[in-house]
This record gives sequence, structure tokens and C-alpha cells, in this order.
Amino acid sequence: MMGGVIVLGSLNIDLVTEVPRLPRPGETVAGGDLRRHPGGKGANQAVAAARAGARVRMVGACGADDGGELVLGALVEEGVDVAGVRRLPDVPTGTATILVEQGGENMIAIGPGANAHWDDGDAPAALHGVTDGDVLLLQLEVPAAVTLAAARVARRRGATVVLNAAPLHTAVPGLLDDVDVLVVNEHEVRAASGVEDGDPTVLARDLAAGASLDVVVTLGARGAVLCGADGREEHVTAPAVEARDTVGAGDTFAGYLAAALAEGRDHSYAVRRAVTAASLAVTRLGAQTAIPRVEDLPPITHTPEEDHAT
Ligand code: RIB
Ligand code: NA
Repeated sequence: MMGGVIVLGSLNIDLVTEVPRLPRPGETVAGGDLRRHPGGKGANQAVAAARAGARVRMVGACGADDGGELVLGALVEEGVDVAGVRRLPDVPTGTATILVEQGGENMIAIGPGANAHWDDGDAPAALHGVTDGDVLLLQLEVPAAVTLAAARVARRRGATVVLNAAPLHTAVPGLLDDVDVLVVNEHEVRAASGVEDGDPTVLARDLAAGASLDVVVTLGARGAVLCGADGREEHVTAPAVEARDTVGAGDTFAGYLAAALAEGRDHSYAVRRAVTAASLAVTRLGAQTAIPRVEDLPPITHTPEEDHAT
């Protein structure tokens, strides 16, 4: 049976300026006109899972301001159930101030706003109806304690817990205790491993074996690698594309992956479809605006590596 995807996480307003190059400290550069988009890793991943075809529920918080209207409206338009999003009267909706350089590099500063406001009972109450077959998708733009509590509740109810550990700068104790699938980029796999450098695949392999979970590392233009708790390893190459704006590519990946797992697909297929969707997202401007719909994806096929392996 097909389960649903529950995304617990952040909702932001993205304030985006395109610049010819990123400024150095103390420097001013002239860029394009400011654009204001719905964003936040949680909301972006909810949109991605919905466009991948999943039934999606969002759990989070935003302000009772016009930013809240914008980010909630965008979710509703995608058919996401937003009954689990609290609207707080006295705090602003979270913001991300983003500079995007031509060619794809970016800088982001977060103002958490409502995303930082959680009481102890909020996450467990919101996850009351979660059952096995469901997938809980988490990120790290809400307090880590909330993420950990949510994972624990969902795991106990038999759901699959997917953590996109973004952003992550240092290891968080207990972070992986109730996680089934960890999705990280090259920096985050180092942070999660508590080392400053090292080969991402080797680190992922060690994490997967040590914490007994599946680890997926996204490698940008080089695709992704899946290291299974059982020692299985698969490299998935990405189609060659011209990157225009990578903001939201990781969210596209995580949302698509969670949707495939809720469909009952195996992890290998889920990663291949996520790589394909994310590679399309980087060719378009913006976070949510760039997320493709499942019907726009080319068919998911086996990679040459797999053909060699069989
Ligand atoms: O992952 C991209 C997102 O991170 C942006 O939408 C921005 O809101 C930041 O939270
Ligand atoms: Na993009």
C-alpha cells in the first residue's frame, strides 16, 4: 500500500538577488532586482514530494504575516495538507537572504523566525496519526531537539524516517538514533562523521555500518552514492546539465527520494529518480519554482555501472 510523506521542518521566505559574482567581506556589488519566493528546506521538500506524486502533509510554523500567506499558499497550490502548520501571531515567518552568482554559486543567511518556536509536545502531537508505510522527512532548519523527538515518535509508529541533515556543521549527539535513511552532501557527511576531511564515500560507508542505516551522499554534478547498512554500495551518475542556480537542488533530491520510498520503491530506484529530478532543478532559477514534476522526468534507467555489476 502507498503511504504518505510527512515533512516536518522549516518554512521560509527567500529573498533572492542575482549577482555577477559574490561580494567579498566589506564589498558591495550591484545585482538584479530583489525577488521574493516561498522557500525553506521543509516547505521545498514538501513541494518536491508532492510534484513527485506523493500525498504530503507539512508540519511546521510560520508567522501570521504576509510571508506566512505566501509560503502556505504555495504549499496549498501543490495539494499539500497544511493543517499541521502553526501560525504564530508574534513572530515573523523565517527568511533566507540569498545571493546567487551567475554560474550557480550562492550564499545564504537564515533568519529562523517562527521555525525556532516549538514546544516539547508540538512534534509528537502533530505526528499522532503516522503509521507504518508513511515516510517522515526531516531537515535541520528547526531545533535539533524537535527533529530528534519527531524521529523517535515516527520510528515507534513504524514509519520510515529520512533525515536530510542540512545544514550541519558539527556532529549532533543522538542525531542518527532513529533514522533509517540519511541524506547528506559532501560537507554534511564530514560533519556527521566528526571529521574535517576524508573521502565522502568512505565516510558514508563507515557511518552506514556504524549507525546501521542507509546513507545517501549527494555529489552535485557527479550524482550520488548510496551506502547501505548491509554493505551494499551504488554510485548513480547525474546527466550532464548547465547549472544556473543550485538553491533547492538538495531539497528536490530529498523530496523525490521520500516520495519514492512512500510508493514502496527500493532505495536504488529512489536515488536514481532523485538524482534525475535534482539535475533538472539546477538548470532553473529559484528553489520551489525549479522543482520538476514527475511527468517531466526522463524515464529512470539502469546506470552503466550496474550493467557491469550484473
Ligand atoms: O535548501 C534551500 C533553502 O534553504 C532555501 O529555500 C532557503 O529558504 C534555505 O532555507
Ligand atoms: Na534552482
